Amino acid sequence: MKIINNSLQKENMVCINNELMQYFRNWFYRYIETFNSSEKNIRENILLKKMHTDRVCEEILQIGRKLDLKEDALRFSELTALFHDIGRFEQYAGYKTFADYKSENHAELGVKILKKSGVLNCLNDSSRDLVYRIVSYHNRACLPERETDRCLFYTKLLRDADKLDIWKVLTDYYLRKDGVLNSAIELELPDTPEISDKVYEAVINKRIVDAHHVRNLNDFKVLQIGWVFDVNFKPAMDALIYRNYIEIICSVIPASEKLKKIKEVVNRYVEKQAY
Ligand SMILES: [Fe+2]
Repeated sequence: MKIINNSLQKENMVCINNELMQYFRNWFYRYIETFNSSEKNIRENILLKKMHTDRVCEEILQIGRKLDLKEDALRFSELTALFHDIGRFEQYAGYKTFADYKSENHAELGVKILKKSGVLNCLNDSSRDLVYRIVSYHNRACLPERETDRCLFYTKLLRDADKLDIWKVLTDYYLRKDGVLNSAIELELPDTPEISDKVYEAVINKRIVDAHHVRNLNDFKVLQIGWVFDVNFKPAMDALIYRNYIEIICSVIPASEKLKKIKEVVNRYVEKQAY
């Protein structure tokens, strides 16, 4: 894990005051109200993403404060968190799935929605474009090489905050008492017992799992474990360790030699990051 320092704060920051931030929050809540539906399934999944967004905003502020970011930088990072999954609502309403491979890339869709709405028109061109790029990169397997330090810094911050909350949603789901399945969370994957070779190979080589190699629910869980190799900031890694997310996900995968090896590699990696 590469810990990124705070020197970026010295650059000219985009200035978003409290009032403007409140305008963006109000816009967001009005926007998602338009997805109110009589269908219980739609209502629940829209609410799931609304609550996820609220918590990602909180997570990003917590990480940012632990990194001693200044108020301007905190508000800008909160703005990226607020809009990072704006594409999810239209995606679910239109396709009834959160699986990008069955519908469309929710990050790209989000950028289209932001552009069409004009909600960011009150920002200057470069700040607006920065938000669009960060939103479009937030779910990529790897980040673009040709980007500014500032863009990569905020994208990494967002990716850490986003992952922390996805781990929360998934582990809450795996440990649920009611046993009710949510195919939107499981991405309609089959619950077969094996772990695919390509998924296994990626994790034991400390690489992020390519979503295209995910064949079943176990693969999806191993992919979630592998996100540990893409945590950028120490406060996020500390939260991941403190909240036991990796252990919980491992506990809901059937025991096997492959799982044993995955645990070994991941635990060794996490232990190294803890200091
Ligand atoms: Fe998200």
